[in-house]
Amino acid sequence: MKRVAYKGLTFEPYIESSRIQARITELASEITKEYEGKTPLFICVLNGAVPFAAALFQQINTDCEITFIRLKSYEGTSTTGVVKEVLGLAEDISGRDVIIVEDIIDTGFTIERLIEGIKGKAPKSVKIATLLLKPEALQTDIKPDYVGFSIPKKFIIGFGLDLDGLARNLPDIYVLCEDK
Ligand code: IMP
Ligand code: MG
Repeated sequence: MKRVAYKGLTFEPYIESSRIQARITELASEITKEYEGKTPLFICVLNGAVPFAAALFQQINTDCEITFIRLKSYEGTSTTGVVKEVLGLAEDISGRDVIIVEDIIDTGFTIERLIEGIKGKAPKSVKIATLLLKPEALQTDIKPDYVGFSIPKKFIIGFGLDLDGLARNLPDIYVLCEDK
């Protein structure tokens, strides 16, 4: 795998597609076991969680549903700290077993804000599945239930993760080179 460049920044290979897919398969079987007979509702956080949610959802082997919500907190390579709800939930989620699907949890502000909103709509249960977690960056008490990979506090792109909208299409995950 080669380095890639976006907006004058260079990124090197970090997590290969085959490793990502294998880990998603493990998470899907864990979720399938825990939600057998419950018809969970997956809430995919747009835009970044789409590749993860799609791969995860396809491998859930019990009845389930999926819906989407859109929030935004990032500009460039650092968080703005302000989370704006861009597109709300259409479904009635009261009494539902909800699983929020995120691409990455960094400070945790985005997911914290989302959970507040979701808990206000009286779901039966709420769990969090995130492909990536930066434990050292966390500034909230959020404890995700399903984590693909815990990574250091570095900026990454690919498999849904973007730099100002670009690089979401890459099947592998890349990390920002600090020497360039
Ligand atoms: P938080 O609110 O700081 O936890 O940020 C969460 C959101 O910021 C994620 O849903 C991503 O959209 C974005 N984000 C956080 N870290 C990265 C990264 O390393 N690359 C790309 N986007 C990121
Ligand atoms: Mg996101």
